[in-house]
Amino acid sequence: MNNYILNGEAIMQRRTLFKLAGTTALGMVLAPKLMAENQVPEATSTKVLHLNFNENALGMSEKAKQAIMNSLAIGSYYPDDQRAAVITQLAVKHNVAESFISLGNGSSENIQAAVQALIVKAQNTKQAVQLVVPDPTFNYAELYAKALGVPVMKVPLADDFSFDLTKLKNAAEAFDGVTIFYLCNPNNPTSMITPAKTIFPWIKSFSQNNYFLLDEAYADFVEDPAFETGMTLVKEGLKNVLVTRTFSKFYALAGYRVGYLLAQPEVVEEVEKFISLDNTNLAGAVAAVASLQDKTFAKLSFQSNSASRQIVQNVLTELGLKFAPSNGNFIFHEIKGDVKTYQERMKAHSILVGREFLPIQGWNRLTLGTPDEMKVFVKVLKAFRAKGWV
Ligand SMILES: Cc1ncc(COP(=O)(O)O)c(C=O)c1O
Repeated sequence: MNNYILNGEAIMQRRTLFKLAGTTALGMVLAPKLMAENQVPEATSTKVLHLNFNENALGMSEKAKQAIMNSLAIGSYYPDDQRAAVITQLAVKHNVAESFISLGNGSSENIQAAVQALIVKAQNTKQAVQLVVPDPTFNYAELYAKALGVPVMKVPLADDFSFDLTKLKNAAEAFDGVTIFYLCNPNNPTSMITPAKTIFPWIKSFSQNNYFLLDEAYADFVEDPAFETGMTLVKEGLKNVLVTRTFSKFYALAGYRVGYLLAQPEVVEEVEKFISLDNTNLAGAVAAVASLQDKTFAKLSFQSNSASRQIVQNVLTELGLKFAPSNGNFIFHEIKGDVKTYQERMKAHSILVGREFLPIQGWNRLTLGTPDEMKVFVKVLKAFRAKGWV
């Protein structure tokens, strides 16, 4: 469990937290008592704000909800048609043939299957294989590689939190075998993009014995025009580029577990061998299709996140707290203090904030909730400043 807590996104941490907090108990019972102790009267929200796991506080599209309710009547059948419909819609969205798409039970499964397929492929040709990741980043690829006994090389971010592409490349060149790069764009926890004009030529400068798993879980939130999806490279025919996406974030369907991988058809075929058969559930499939069709919700999701980002950036600027340029539904910012203490204090005010990502110390990852939620956060943060806590 420590491994999860210390090194990446926290499956165990998330489960433990839910057991401890319930959904409302924390705000109704624990918070008022602790709030009184801390004497920060501005913070009076009794609703727990979940600003810790990069979920989407808007909740899913109403059309997705309706689709789930309609699907109750056919829940006793296998969801083959509905699964196929998700792939059809995704092919339209990304302007590719359906053979470019592999559906996952959340993009976590796509990451797992891609890592496993690439490792097995290298091992079948008697080549050594390693995973190279920037540090910090989302850690599922690392966990799956380690479980298969594959070494993981972590390359610290540059001082400005961008990927250190020179050192990442050196790590591959120093290795006699196949390198799989896992690169999250925008990166989690920094929320920063790596511009296409930097990363595309960099990827193309490698031999085909190196693979690039580009995790674009937060791509739909990106505002910076310097970002471009890695699909561009896949469409150019690169067989060593694999892109993952998810419905968990932008479409607020984290609980329904729908993600996908995009790659050249022969790569998809290899990866699919390691995907659980019939991995898509009916409710997730119909919700995903309805979400893709609901352009009004997509607009709302984007605009709400942008507004929340602006609110938080404004207060951080006002308080002189540094932050990384955010392009996801979260923002990585300085707190000038011990992050664990800060988390506890926020929790005492019914706000569950993210955590520190070592080796970067004194910075916290904050999920962007709704604009109203972020206004509550701003009040509490300002009250913390008044107490000299941040
Ligand atoms: C960068 C990144 N990739 C993938 C995931 C996994 O998402 P899911 O399995 O819900 O699609 C997450 C979840 O937090 C994430 O932050």
